[in-house]
Amino acid sequence: PRFARVLGTGSYLPERRVSNADLAAELAADGVETSDDWITERTGIKARHFAAADQNTSDLALPAAQAALQAAGIGADQLDLIIVATTTPDMVFPSTACLLQAKLGVAGCAAFDVQAVCSGFLYALSVADAMIRAGQARHALVIGAEVFSRLLDFKDRTTCVLFGDGAGAVVLGASEEPGILATALHADGAQAEVLCVPGSVKGGHVTGHPVVRMDGQAVFKLAVSALDKVAREVIERAGMKAEQIDWLIPHQANLRIMKGTAKKLGLPEERMVVTVQEHGNTSAASVPLALDQAVRSGQIQRGQNLLLEGVGGGFTWGAALLAY
Ligand code: ACO
Repeated sequence: PRFARVLGTGSYLPERRVSNADLAAELAADGVETSDDWITERTGIKARHFAAADQNTSDLALPAAQAALQAAGIGADQLDLIIVATTTPDMVFPSTACLLQAKLGVAGCAAFDVQAVCSGFLYALSVADAMIRAGQARHALVIGAEVFSRLLDFKDRTTCVLFGDGAGAVVLGASEEPGILATALHADGAQAEVLCVPGSVKGGHVTGHPVVRMDGQAVFKLAVSALDKVAREVIERAGMKAEQIDWLIPHQANLRIMKGTAKKLGLPEERMVVTVQEHGNTSAASVPLALDQAVRSGQIQRGQNLLLEGVGGGFTWGAALLAY
């Protein structure tokens, strides 16, 4: 059997760190009331990073990609596939993956974006896994990167306190040794309205409402049940049991959703990687950011079983179980 194995990980956070107190003070200047206590209690978020005005998604993706390539011990010229998961592409086209490819100084390999909002990294990882196992690629760079702050209405306290910017990357390589064991992806477009940015560019003008709209309680309920089902699906497909999972790396949106999923699976909270307190919800970047931080901190070790989960707008959700 031929597997796609994680050879290296990397991540990048923009320099500007905004604590809940900083954000509350900035919003208060605009007459919008919130507090560190409210945000912490409802979400577990303590801070997030925001990109500078001149930083786009590909600028965040580049250092994350370089770190992952270095960890993998390969050069960008050895890549034959680049997939970027993003909701905030630099341009309408070409894809952010193409722009990133040029910034990496290479040409020729396949490059495209995947759009599944907060599940984007799971979608991209699953596509790369399938292409590697099919023999279409040997080395793939899979990235989740977002400047989600560009989609926020800082007058809407129910959404603007939740999100942040960042990028995370993995380099996958074809291997005879086990790597990704099972993946599963799902969507329900009938739920588009619970979480969306219902705007677009038409005839050279922005139309609609190009900032986040969310029914928080509906998202909360959908997320907990979707994540539980998809986690069980990949565990079963891999022929494993929940107790064999060494680390759960869920989408980092909200600590209460994350704790809810771990509990439903019967996994102790100590086996869950948590970075939401420092990153906020970075959409497609959240899972690879958490993965890289846990690898670099020594939490995650080679030989361990990792369960990655994503859920988000679309509505979309997915999971991957891998031997690291
Ligand atoms: N600061 C202070 N008060 C606030 C804020 C804020 N930032 N936001 C809302 N409130 C107020 C509301 O106005 C409301 O006041 P009222 O009772 O006077 O009307 C009160 O707080 C309670 O509001 P609810 O919306 O009922 O709060 P809830 O407990 O549902 O928490 C939250 C809201 C945190 C959004 C929750 O629903 C949630 O976590 N949902 C999941 C959404 C999520 O994680 N989205 C991320 C993107 S989706 C994804 O990635 C999966």
